[in-house]
Amino acid sequence: ATGAAAPSRAPGLARKGAVPAVAPVVTPFTVKMPVPQVLQPAQTTATADIYKMVIKPAATEIIPGVATQVLTYGGQFVGPTIRAKTGRAVKIVYGNSLDMPANVHLHGGHTPATSDGHPMDLIQPGQVRLYDYPNKQQGATLWYHDHSHHMEAEHVFRGLHGFYLIDDAAEKALRLPSGAYDVPIMLRDSAFDENNELLFFGDPAERTTILANGKIKPYFQVARRKYRFRLLNASNEHVFKLNLGGETMMKIASDGGLLPAPVPVTEMVLASAERVEIVVDFARYPIGTRLELSNGSDPVLRFDVTKNAYDDSLLPATLRPLPAMPAATVNREVRMNFDLSGEAPVGLVNGLPYDPSRVDFQVKRGTTEIWNVINTDTFDIDHTFHLHLEQFRVIGRNGGPPLPQDQGRKDTVHLPPHESVQIQVTFGDYLGKYVYHCHYLEHSSIGMMAQVEIVP
Ligand code: C2O
Ligand code: CU
Repeated sequence: ATGAAAPSRAPGLARKGAVPAVAPVVTPFTVKMPVPQVLQPAQTTATADIYKMVIKPAATEIIPGVATQVLTYGGQFVGPTIRAKTGRAVKIVYGNSLDMPANVHLHGGHTPATSDGHPMDLIQPGQVRLYDYPNKQQGATLWYHDHSHHMEAEHVFRGLHGFYLIDDAAEKALRLPSGAYDVPIMLRDSAFDENNELLFFGDPAERTTILANGKIKPYFQVARRKYRFRLLNASNEHVFKLNLGGETMMKIASDGGLLPAPVPVTEMVLASAERVEIVVDFARYPIGTRLELSNGSDPVLRFDVTKNAYDDSLLPATLRPLPAMPAATVNREVRMNFDLSGEAPVGLVNGLPYDPSRVDFQVKRGTTEIWNVINTDTFDIDHTFHLHLEQFRVIGRNGGPPLPQDQGRKDTVHLPPHESVQIQVTFGDYLGKYVYHCHYLEHSSIGMMAQVEIVP
């Protein structure tokens, strides 16, 4: 098997007693794709922007004309977008209005341990919690989501997800498309029961209804000019294989920010939690052109070219060099697989289910390491690997060269059946315990997670 040939629908574990999904009947391209609202700070100081959000249930219109119950940040099914700047702190006060604990992890964030949203570090019902993000990292498309132990899969599936975008001065100087022409698009799967409610306790393989910013097959009107799209796969377990009907997209960034130079692509593999940024120049197309962004042969979103527009943005031939990698001094092995011998499947990392009282690896601050991450399941099942705190680089796959989707700074990487990925990572400034896990959230929630402690 190779990651390049990854199926659109990754094999999953069917649940016992799963209720069948009922696919909603929707006429494609009749609903406009919303862009998640950018949250305004509740307060601004000399050094920080302070935001407030409440975690609460809400009803939202996913299927046209129908209300579906979801869980939200701030009442919105795709949570409000936080716009941060490198070097300027963001502080967010989250209130928990659910009747169960919740928390918030900034995925891809270089975050002090106390604000990382560790699975055991929860916001109890009725409580508030301040998360402090120093944003000491370069521009990148991050996202925030629930990470409460055992509940992360259900919470995220029901809607606890949103964008957190970091901009930096050097990136701004490149004059890539910005403002209304810089559009985050959250792609995720979903499934519904016969009452049009989200079906979490079904077979993940039946999550075939793909949402773009919370809508089913929406359209998005564009002008004849360049756009920057920040694509996130927020599915719990789904590999997307995205194309624009054979048209060329310029890939400019991976999980952790800009690539050294734009890469022309016609297809992109995006596993759960991965991000990719593209620039598409619609000036190539006459007004009236319609371009479908599809997952394999299934359209998920249509771009309708409807007008001309002035374009002073650029797509420079070079973007930003990747940071140099110090030489690695430690090698480790991370094996990910299931134990299927008992009543219910248990997720394992190096043979053990997650135990918050156990430190799996201790790392001395400042150390550069190479981890060989292996999908050791003996049957065909996908995993992904996600490390908190640091962006890593994929230096090899199955002992050979990395794949196109492994390029650049990464925090999540696809681990198809029987494959292995070699990553190199430097643990920089922060100390404490951080988890690494399979980002198929059903897998992490049943144990496929472990933790590293960074020590002085
Ligand atoms: Cu996106 Cu540990 O998570
Ligand atoms: Cu997994």
